[in-house]
Amino acid sequence: MKKILISAFIALSASAMAQDAATTNACSVSIDSNDAMQFNLKEFEINKSQCPEFSITLKHVGNLPAAAMGHNVVITQASDKDAVLKDGLAFPANGYLKEGDERVVAHTKLIGGQEETSVSFPTKDLDASKAYEFFCSFPAHATIMNGKVKVVE
Ligand code: CO
Repeated sequence: MKKILISAFIALSASAMAQDAATTNACSVSIDSNDAMQFNLKEFEINKSQCPEFSITLKHVGNLPAAAMGHNVVITQASDKDAVLKDGLAFPANGYLKEGDERVVAHTKLIGGQEETSVSFPTKDLDASKAYEFFCSFPAHATIMNGKVKVVE
């Protein structure tokens, strides 16, 4: 009988934790990437009034090294994406992003398999009337590894 009660308590605690995670993560997003050149989500939202700062955690759940299957998360206006990617090709040591590129709203570092990285950034300069995207800047990855960032005032 005692054993059953303990199990029930553990199950309750676990479900309470899951609920907390879902309700307190509005100012952050966790994105997985893999050896098949994929992100596990296509869109996330940044609410400016709720979140003066927003953070992104990127996990690479694959095994290939960054030199072969590097992934990062870069946010720009959708209209800047192609030029940012083109200019970034000359800067492999900077995660394929031009040094000091002012069109880049935020970016994580470039990681390989089994690595994880995070970035936090202020949201005040985001403009809800503009379209933003997130993508990986490793050469040729952004055609598949991309998604929409919905900005809400
Ligand atoms: Co990539």
